[in-house]
Amino acid sequence: MKSAEPGGRPERPTLVILAAGRSTRFGRAKQLEPVGPDGASLLEYAVYDALRAGFGRFVLVVRESQRHEFEARLGPLRTTGVALSFACQRLAHADLVPLPPPGRVRPWGTGFAVLAAAAALPHRGPFAVCNADDFYGRAAYESLARSLAAPPPGVRAFTVTYPLADTLSAFGGVSRGLCEATPDGTLLRMTEGLDLRLEREAPRTGSGAESAAARPAVAGRTPAGTPIRVDADSQACMGLWGFFPEILPLLAERFRAFLAASPGVDDEFYLSEVVSHLAAAGRARCGLLRAGQGWMGLTFPGDRAGASASLRQLTEAGAYPADLWTPPVRPEPARRAPAPSVSPPRAPPRGTAIAPGRINLIGEHLDYNGLSVLPMALDRHVRLDFEVLRQPTVELEGDADHGPFAFRLDRPIEPAPQGHWSNYVRAAARGLLDHGVELKRGIGGKVAGTVPVAEGLSSSSALVVATALALLHANETHVEVLELAALLARAERYAGLQGGGMDQAASLCGAKGHALRIDFRPLRVTPVPVPEGWRWVVASSLARAEKTGAAREPYNERRAQCAEALKRLGRASWLEAVEADEAEFVSILAGARRSLPRTLWRRFRHVATEGRRVIEAEAALRREDMAAFGRLMNASHASLRDDFGVSTETLDEIVEVARDAGAAGARLTGAGFGGCAIALCRESRAKGVMAALRERFYEPRGGAGGGALFVAAASDGATVTS
Ligand code: GLA
Repeated sequence: MKSAEPGGRPERPTLVILAAGRSTRFGRAKQLEPVGPDGASLLEYAVYDALRAGFGRFVLVVRESQRHEFEARLGPLRTTGVALSFACQRLAHADLVPLPPPGRVRPWGTGFAVLAAAAALPHRGPFAVCNADDFYGRAAYESLARSLAAPPPGVRAFTVTYPLADTLSAFGGVSRGLCEATPDGTLLRMTEGLDLRLEREAPRTGSGAESAAARPAVAGRTPAGTPIRVDADSQACMGLWGFFPEILPLLAERFRAFLAASPGVDDEFYLSEVVSHLAAAGRARCGLLRAGQGWMGLTFPGDRAGASASLRQLTEAGAYPADLWTPPVRPEPARRAPAPSVSPPRAPPRGTAIAPGRINLIGEHLDYNGLSVLPMALDRHVRLDFEVLRQPTVELEGDADHGPFAFRLDRPIEPAPQGHWSNYVRAAARGLLDHGVELKRGIGGKVAGTVPVAEGLSSSSALVVATALALLHANETHVEVLELAALLARAERYAGLQGGGMDQAASLCGAKGHALRIDFRPLRVTPVPVPEGWRWVVASSLARAEKTGAAREPYNERRAQCAEALKRLGRASWLEAVEADEAEFVSILAGARRSLPRTLWRRFRHVATEGRRVIEAEAALRREDMAAFGRLMNASHASLRDDFGVSTETLDEIVEVARDAGAAGARLTGAGFGGCAIALCRESRAKGVMAALRERFYEPRGGAGGGALFVAAASDGATVTS
């Protein structure tokens, strides 16, 4: 069954938040306990994360006596666009239990709480269930939303699991549903573990390094009182579930069976038991979604301090605003996800690949002509946090503008529609496979980053590089760095732009404090120190320069024109022109002018003169003559503007303002057609140049928002770590 809104769009799932528990061990109503830096409760984080993951509605299940308090605290969220309703969990239920048995005071349990929410659920469409006093992390909701949008055949429920050891409390034993998986990653059975605690010492079974390094086990007991010891990596179900509406009649049926068995006044009807029963009976397969880490809960009062500290850290790291609800959070558009991720049975290794963007100091549109360029790697990166998947699939997601996607490595990798960000990831994978690298394992994870996107700073190549490093790492293999740079440059053309190899080499080979002279045919990278006391100011023209968007065709056209000019002149390479002495160069230019049509002549003049400027610029850098370097930048900009036709009015304006304000030189950087300009400034002038740009360029346009204007430092190249 596929749930869909009219018009075929997938229905956003609803999140049912169970908040009717009695907090016996916590001592007070923990569901509203302020835990975040600005006093938000964990359940507010759940709403915040789920909204971002694409959930559309929220149903809060509370006890009658708490309703007022919850309304007062959470009702205002509706003004920020959150579709929130309340359902009361009572002991009586018109259809199921018109009269509660005598002596019953305890709520009926989580399975019953979901039935209490049924009336508030949309008739169609999937829903998820979570506990109000648990923090599951954004990835968990994203994974659920994806899986609910495209469940594997026959899978009608999901639960998100966490490594058991990460769910224990330092303040006492806890109960957890311990999941065992079938080989295809669905729930085989779930057993209840009670009073679970980490054993102090790792047991010394076997010998040598392996046993010494083993994680300690977790000890507890079964509901029947039998002691148990389980692996700390066992997957624990923490009460985050995904369902389709057809679960509701099954739940009702099981609840009737529960009642028919005359439960004691303290017996509860647990959701986990129902799902476990249905899975074992073959009536509803339940996919296990491995969330990795990130769960936090409030079982004991002492848990609060740890959860608070973690939320503070997450806030400081930028994962959450300090005040969750201003500015208002709008739901993400519902997305149809390409593939669900049912987890493999054991904890996989993880890693992080970090790849910098670049600015090109000088030498534009030369790389594809085989001429040297002089960029530097930026101190802004694309970051890919991944886990190694046992299956050969790539399952990644980015920020709000870069939605989730998945593809297989063991099938032909088809491109996504032109302009889709996954094409850079696909390009990296394809490049490695075409190079003969075996990719038996995949990666799943999240892409984030600080390189402004579509600003001509090579965020796309940084993504290609980060992906390649992650895939190589996952498959425990290696490709020599220059070979990798070359193969990734070829591979990236798959995304549509017939680029050269500058960006990938700069991202892989960056060196702190150094510019990079990159030669092609063959590829070589030579770091050149940047003198102290100089700054590179990067300024966005506020116009996107998308490699696979508007910039693609004019870029590819320039490339073709350069090849055509060379061909018409009967030359095999640009080197003769670039390396000629002055007199010879003058005669080469004169010859070209005579024999080439106007546009091709201008293209020719740019490439030939720019090639010579790079040689001079490197020499100027080495003798620390930054005034000369600045003049060469200015000449480069003029040539790109007048001969190569890739500048824009706004880029020209930035360059002018920067020079007026005392920059030693300024030019557009990257392909042009929008994107950024750079200005070389003495350290003492950088502030003044930035102030002038703010005042004369950005303020009239409404200000320089996030990352439009910054000082760049030359940084090291890409890395991958476990
Ligand atoms: C883009 C391409 C590079 C290079 C520059 C222009 O960034 O990806 O290969 O051609 O434009 O110098």
